[in-house]
Amino acid sequence: MHEPVLTEKVLEYLDPQPNENFIDCTAGGGGHTFAIAERIAPKGKILALDWDAEAIQSFTEELRKRRLQNRVFAENENFANIKEAAAKNAFRPVAGILFDLGLSSDQLESRRRGFTFRKEEPLDMRYNTQNPITAEKLLNYSSKIQLERMLRDYSEEQFSKQIAEAIVQSRAQTHLQKTSQLVQIVEQATPKWYQRRKIHPATKTFQALRIAVNNEVENIKQGLQGATELVSQNGKIAVISFHSLEDRIVKEFFKQNPLFRPLTKKPIIPSRAEIKQNSRARSAKLRVAVKL
Ligand SMILES: C[S@@+](CC[C@H](N)C(=O)[O-])C[C@H]1O[C@@H](n2cnc3c(N)ncnc32)[C@H](O)[C@@H]1O
Repeated sequence: MHEPVLTEKVLEYLDPQPNENFIDCTAGGGGHTFAIAERIAPKGKILALDWDAEAIQSFTEELRKRRLQNRVFAENENFANIKEAAAKNAFRPVAGILFDLGLSSDQLESRRRGFTFRKEEPLDMRYNTQNPITAEKLLNYSSKIQLERMLRDYSEEQFSKQIAEAIVQSRAQTHLQKTSQLVQIVEQATPKWYQRRKIHPATKTFQALRIAVNNEVENIKQGLQGATELVSQNGKIAVISFHSLEDRIVKEFFKQNPLFRPLTKKPIIPSRAEIKQNSRARSAKLRVAVKL
């Protein structure tokens, strides 16, 4: 079960009041959605998006169990299309919008889509399985320079050149299909000391591929742009990011938007106690901005 991160801080900053409406762009297991839903009772509504059809399916079941289906509307949609999703549901006014980026523990542990280097799974990595681009396609058909750029730009992998070279050599022998093949390639392409660190040597490679497969950078930019247009005056946008690329995009986005004032000068990070309880929280950063 996915454990939501920074929930208390999200509530503190978004400050949901009875009968206000919110959009949760990344419903996942619903941890944040349900916490906000409680605060905006009895009439406040939530539009909850998730690009992963399986996530939306179990989220919808949970809605029924909690008898929230009249106040929370679930949509299997990319948050890049937040404006279209809001228009379709005639969802206005909007007091606040939340993005909890990246992937959930459920996706990591049980979708069998190759998100994790810890399990032998097909190299898929799509949030949305209708998306034509898979990790397998990117690995087998991108040029060496594209692979190298992807590793460097999306995860600052210091051995991007060596790993890209090793991918190209390896795929000349055999088609790459499984997570273990990619792990082996990374292990062969990187020095021993790199493999002895706390962090698994394939962490950055898997992260970069996932970002590329799902076009995450563009989605975040488009989603944020849509959110700024949708949220009401004095409304807030909260974003939880999990790596420096995401955090930079969010920080720059609000810095360059004169209609928004950041409420968090420095990003909010989880307490030690939260990190101890939920290791996924260790890299989380929350930024919130208010519309003037
Ligand atoms: C970190 S989880 C959210 C967890 C959720 N806040 C909770 O408390 O359970 C991120 C979710 O965002 C979804 N997601 C990722 N990219 C998306 C996108 N472009 N549009 C909509 N959902 C997306 C993923 O499928 C995943 O379920």
